[in-house]
Amino acid sequence: MIISASTDYREAARRRLPPFLFHYGDGGAYAEYTLQHNVSDLAGVALRQRVLNDMSQLDLSTRLFGETLSMPVALAPVGLTGMYARRGEVQVARAADRKGIPYTMSTVSVCPIEEVAPEISRPMWFQLYVLKDRGFMKSVLERAQAAGVSTLVFTVDMPVPGARYRDAHAGMSGPYAALRRYAQAVLHPRWAWDVGLWGRPHDLGNVSRYLGKPTGLEDYIGWLGANFDPSISWKDLQWIRDFWKGPMIIKGILDPDDAREAVRFGADGIVVSNHGGRQLDGVLSTARALPAIADAVKGQITLLADSGVRTGLDVVRMLALGADTVLLGRAWLYALAAGGEAGVANLLDLIEKEMRVAMTLTGARTIADITRDLLVRD
Ligand code: FNR
Repeated sequence: MIISASTDYREAARRRLPPFLFHYGDGGAYAEYTLQHNVSDLAGVALRQRVLNDMSQLDLSTRLFGETLSMPVALAPVGLTGMYARRGEVQVARAADRKGIPYTMSTVSVCPIEEVAPEISRPMWFQLYVLKDRGFMKSVLERAQAAGVSTLVFTVDMPVPGARYRDAHAGMSGPYAALRRYAQAVLHPRWAWDVGLWGRPHDLGNVSRYLGKPTGLEDYIGWLGANFDPSISWKDLQWIRDFWKGPMIIKGILDPDDAREAVRFGADGIVVSNHGGRQLDGVLSTARALPAIADAVKGQITLLADSGVRTGLDVVRMLALGADTVLLGRAWLYALAAGGEAGVANLLDLIEKEMRVAMTLTGARTIADITRDLLVRD
C-alpha cells in the first residue's frame, strides 16, 4: 500500500524490478556520499512553524517560461525510462500532463520523441547531452523542434561517465553483464513481459532513429561510452543557443561562478544539480550549494533545482533555499516502476498534498511567499 511518497514507491519498485535496473536507478557514484547527502541535507533544512493565519486558501500555481504550472514542479529527464514500464516515457508524460506540469524527455529514451509528443496537450521539454557526435545532436534538435518541444534542457555535468560501482555489482555493467541481465530478466518474467522484452528486441527508439538500426542496451552503452565529450566548453554551446529559439536551460550547475557564466551566456534557466549524486561523489549536495547560487543569480535567470527531492515537503524546502521550480528524478521513477501512469499520477497528488501541509504550517499562501524567511536561522 502506498502511503508515503518517499519510501513506499521505492520499496514497491525494488520488489518489481530486476536488480540491475533497480540499482541503476537507485544508485549513485563511488561511495554514494553525495547521493546520501542530497537527501539528508535537504531533510535537515528546518522550517519555521507559523500558526493562526487563516490558511484556508492556498495557491500553488506558478508561471514558468510563459506557461502556467499547477505547482512549481517539473519531471527531470531519466534515461531508459521505457525499461521501467512499457512505453514508460508515454505513461509518465501523460501523468505530468494531467497534473499540469512539464515532463522532460531524456535523449536516451526507449520511446522516440515522435511517439511521446502527440500523447500530451502541453509542449514537452527535451533534454540533450553533450556528445562528440554533433550530427546526432543536431538531428535530435531538429526532431524535437518538429515535434513541438518547447524547452531544451542541456545537460553539462556528464563530460565523462560517473563511476557507478553499484551498476557493476548489480549486472548493469561489468563482467558478463549481458548474461547477468538476461538471467535476471528470466527471474522477473512479469517485468520482462510488461516492458516487451519477450515480444521484440528492446529498442532505444531515440538513438536507433539516428543510427538507423534497432539499438539494444549493449549497443547503447557502447555508443554512449564512445560519445562523451570532455572537450566541451561554453563556446561550443553557442550554435545550440543560435539554433534553439525556445527557452534553453543548462542542467548540472553547482557553483556560483558557473551560474554567473550561464547568465552571461544567455541561458534562460539553470538546473542546480549534481545529477542525483550519479556523477562526482563528494561534491556538495544541492541543498548546500543552492543558497550561494541564489545569492549570485536569483532574479537574473530562472533557477531550477533537483537532487534528493522525495516529498512535497522537500519541494517547499528547495523553494525556500532559492529555487523557482523543483525537478523530481528518482521520486517519479520509483512510482512509474511500481504503478505505471497511475503510480506517477498518485505520486504527484501526494507531492501536492505534502506541499499544502508544509505551506499551511509555515504561513505561505502562494509560491511567491516561500522565501528564505521560512527557514530557521541557526
Ligand atoms: C538520471 N538523470 C539524468 N539526467 C539527464 O540530464 N539525462 C538523463 O538521461 C538522465 N538519466 C538519469 C537516469 C536515472 C536512472 C536517474 C536516477 C537520473 C538525472 C536526473 O535528471 C536528475 O538530475 C536526478 O535524478 C535528480 O536527483 P534525484 O531527485 O533522483 O535524487
